[in-house]
Formats: sequence, C-alpha cells, structure tokens
Amino acid sequence: MTSPLPIPLVALGHASTPGLMIPQLGFGLWEVPSEAVDSALGAAVDTGYRHVDTAEMYGNEAAVGATLNRVGIPRDDIFITTKVWHDHLDDVPAAFGGSMARLGLDVLDLYLIHWPAASRDQYVRGWSAMLELQQAGQVRSVGVCNFQVPHLERLRDETGVLPSVNQIELSPYLQQHELRAFHAEHGIVTEAWSPLAVRAGLLDDPVIAGAAAKHSVTPAQVALRWQIQLGNVVLTRSVKRPRIPQNADLFDFDLDAEDTASIAGLDRGLRTGPDPDVFGN
Ligand SMILES: NC(=O)c1ccc[n+]([C@@H]2O[C@H](COP(=O)([O-])OP(=O)(O)OC[C@H]3O[C@@H](n4cnc5c(N)ncnc54)[C@H](OP(=O)(O)O)[C@@H]3O)[C@@H](O)[C@H]2O)c1
Repeated sequence: MTSPLPIPLVALGHASTPGLMIPQLGFGLWEVPSEAVDSALGAAVDTGYRHVDTAEMYGNEAAVGATLNRVGIPRDDIFITTKVWHDHLDDVPAAFGGSMARLGLDVLDLYLIHWPAASRDQYVRGWSAMLELQQAGQVRSVGVCNFQVPHLERLRDETGVLPSVNQIELSPYLQQHELRAFHAEHGIVTEAWSPLAVRAGLLDDPVIAGAAAKHSVTPAQVALRWQIQLGNVVLTRSVKRPRIPQNADLFDFDLDAEDTASIAGLDRGLRTGPDPDVFGN
C-alpha cells in the first residue's frame, strides 16, 4: 500500500486474510452528507489517507464509492471499511449486497457489526453470516464495533471466532483499559472513534493544550498522536480542508513520558456517544 504519508500499517488478527494490513490512521465519514463527501474524501486521499471508514447508516456509501472511483487510487492501495446496522443482522447478505452495490466494490476489506444491540439477540446470528461472507472471499476481514467484553466472549463461545477489530469510542477522557487489555490478550485490533472528543471539550483541556504548545502542534494532533503511540488504529474526520492534512501530520513528533503520564491522568470514563450496553435495545 503506497501513500505520500508515513502511516504505519497494522496486521489484522487471526480472523482475517493472512497478511492483511490496515493503515493505522483512517478517514471517517460519520455525519458527512453525501454532497460533502467528494470534497472531504478527495482532500483526504490527496493528503495520503489510504483507509476509509463508512457505514450503511451514514447514508453516504454511494458518494464514497463515486469519489474513490473518481480519484482512481488502485484498489489494492486503499483500505475500505463499512458496517451493518443492527436492524439488518437478520439478513446480513442482503445488507452487504446493498453496501457493495452502493460502494461499487467486488471485495470489501473490513465489514463490521455497528452495534451489538444485545437485547435483540441478533448479533451472534449476524456474526455467523459475516464469517460466511469472509469464507466466500467477499470480505477480507470481519469485526465489530462497540462490543463490550461479554459480547466478545459470547462470539468466541458460540462461534469459536473472535473479531479482527473492535471499533470503540476511545479518547483521553475514555481510555477503555478493560477492553484494550482483552483485545491485547486475544489479538483484536483496537480502533478508536471520536478520538478528538470534541463534544466533551478535550481539545480545550489544559493537559492537551499544554502538550500541543510544548511540541508546536495542535491539540488535535496531540490527541491523535497519543492513539498512534498506544498502538491503536485511529479514525478521524474533518470537512475542513486545512484540518485534513494537519490531522494526518502526526509522524515527526513524539509525546514524551511526561506527556503520556499527564494524558493517562485524564481518564474519566466520559462518553460523547451512546452507551453500547443500552443503544439499539
Ligand atoms: N462505530 C461507531 O459506532 C462509530 C461512531 C462514531 C464514529 N465512528 C467512525 O469514527 C470516525 C471518527 O469519529 P469522529 O467523526 O467523531 O471523529 P473526530 O475526528 O473525533 O471528530 C470529528 C469532529 O472534530 C472536528 N475536528 C476535526 N479535526 C479538528 C481539528 N484539527 N481541530 C478542531 N476540530 C476538529 C470536526 O469538525 P470539522 O469537520 O468542522 O473539522 C468534527 O466535528 C467517524 O467519522 C466514523 O467513521 C464510528
């Protein structure tokens, strides 16, 4: 996978195609309306992002597919993720077919269950269907989002296969120690969403702002660099052109031990998004 940026690649776990790698920085498209996708995603690809994260629920898969077609990056040089919504876990092949038609793809890199919605009791059924898609070669890797440890354990116990990825809300205000430890023990890649925790004011936090001033970078770069140094895959999003390259300019500074100790002290279990134990039930 070639990019003008030195974005590291992370190996996906045992539930994936052997050798499959995912760029550690991805461009997210949540809340990006279709008419804004071409400008934002086009700028991201021009910058060097080679990992794109969308979902059927975002309503912009067709626009994502059109932009990827327009920019003409070779298919093997771009990593594409989409997600199945919990209303469709009873018919994953139909949902997958719809996403692939909208994206204009033959093979997907990563397909995720968007939320467990556990009280509906559909996520194991959906997971089994996703494993079949992988076995059929239609998707290279399968994973989940917003799964808590008991949800992951249930997948393991009932299907024998854990996800390659768990995409979760993760920021200095929500450091997810228990899930990260489970992921590390079982070879699951941690993907972080809403890393900037803008709704919680993270970028104005004096610890983040202080580290930014010390390294002559922005608070967003500090928040994103922290994720890179933890080893997480991190997704970020902007529709503002100056921010798109800035948020990817993470590879010529290091947070030092003093910075990381200060940021470790910011954890307060604060979510900016829904609680996965409740959402969709
Ligand atoms: N699986 C899930 O349930 C789930 C849930 C949420 C998100 N996600 C995925 O994760 C991706 C990342 O999460 P997110 O979209 O919340 O990303 P984020 O990067 O944490 O936050 C994006 C917000 O921050 C602002 N922003 C971006 N760069 C900035 C900067 N340098 N300084 C100040 N503000 C900045 C953006 O505004 P502007 O656009 O105005 O710059 C936007 O409002 C999503 O896009 C989606 O793909 C997944």
